[in-house]
Amino acid sequence: METKVWKVDPQFPDPKVIAKAAEVIRRGGLIAFPTETVYGLGANALDENAVLKIFAAKERPPWDPLIVHIFDLTMLEHLVDEPPENFHKLAELFMPGPLTVVMWKKAKVPDAVTAGLPTVAVRMPNHPVALVLIEASGVPIAAPSANKFGRPSPTTAEHVLHDLAGRIDGILDAGPTQVGVESTVLDLTKIPPVILRPGGVGKEALEKVLGEVLVATKILEVETGLPSPGMMPRHYAPSVPVILTDGNPSELAAAIEVLKSQGYDPNQIGVLMPSGWLAGIEGVVTFDWGSWGNWDELAQKLFVGIRWLEMQKISAIVAPLPPPIGLGLAIRDRLTKAATPKDEFSSESKKSNCKCQGKTL
Ligand code: TXA
Ligand code: MG
Repeated sequence: METKVWKVDPQFPDPKVIAKAAEVIRRGGLIAFPTETVYGLGANALDENAVLKIFAAKERPPWDPLIVHIFDLTMLEHLVDEPPENFHKLAELFMPGPLTVVMWKKAKVPDAVTAGLPTVAVRMPNHPVALVLIEASGVPIAAPSANKFGRPSPTTAEHVLHDLAGRIDGILDAGPTQVGVESTVLDLTKIPPVILRPGGVGKEALEKVLGEVLVATKILEVETGLPSPGMMPRHYAPSVPVILTDGNPSELAAAIEVLKSQGYDPNQIGVLMPSGWLAGIEGVVTFDWGSWGNWDELAQKLFVGIRWLEMQKISAIVAPLPPPIGLGLAIRDRLTKAATPKDEFSSESKKSNCKCQGKTL
């Protein structure tokens, strides 16, 4: 199939173009669209056949459930019976925004969306194009990130085309996304609530509203025996190995020296390089990642940098790990998953045991 690319203004998208894309959604097709985090690949969440096309296009395993995107809180009526009390406080502060909330689902939400789980993940994206698309479609939109399964998430329409051209009906291209890493996935069916995936809303901000919040750090196997997705150890991965170092210039330089001593040519080594850290490091291929300490900026450029470096014919990517502060937690999570070797993915993913800050779920 030919994938149509519609350029739209990120603030004031042309309603005629949105109407065309919404028509594709209503007819059961697939549209990639920008959110404030990353590009999503959308289908009508209430149409099981449409949802199955997402899995086919992405080559996503059926056990990995999707996030359902809503335009406003009235759309929740399709998805959940009664949101938990603490949901409303979160909605007031973070919706629209980069927060996804997992709640008990209504029976009519197709199993394909939730991978058979009794819960559904809901989010109201903070991007005019996403919001008007959902509104014009008149249905909640199920949308994972618009990349092939396991690859880094797309923050531009070009990234989407690279992975999915010819497999989806169209893309609304509104330029690069703002946040750059995906939403925080928060499970509100647990007491205390559990962050299943760190993301655009920091743990500190959630704790101000909810009190204690746990962070799931290992593969979670839920009651049904299915692994909770996005928690696979290997994910967001480029085609070359990723090597992580402590977050300071001398550790980064030392890791590069180790690679050279192992026989790597400097021009085979790609580096996510914080501004001003280059002194003394020569010949390597660098992506100017941004100011160390500005975790928002580093998050925004993370997947752009990884995708750009892997296009430069390098054989390894080296990156320093930020501290787990604000969006630093999400960056650490994505880099750690990108750095997990392939063989560990298959064996680890079978060992299931969720340790939440020392507590086993
Ligand atoms: O920012 C984002 O969240 C982007 C944009 C497009 O909205 N979407 C995104 O979707 O990152 P995806 O499919 O790449 O990641 C969804 C995550 C997965 O880790 C999945 O396991 C988790 O949400 N998830 C979805 N439904 C769930 C459920 N019922 N219970 C637990 N986790 C769930
Ligand atoms: Mg994804």
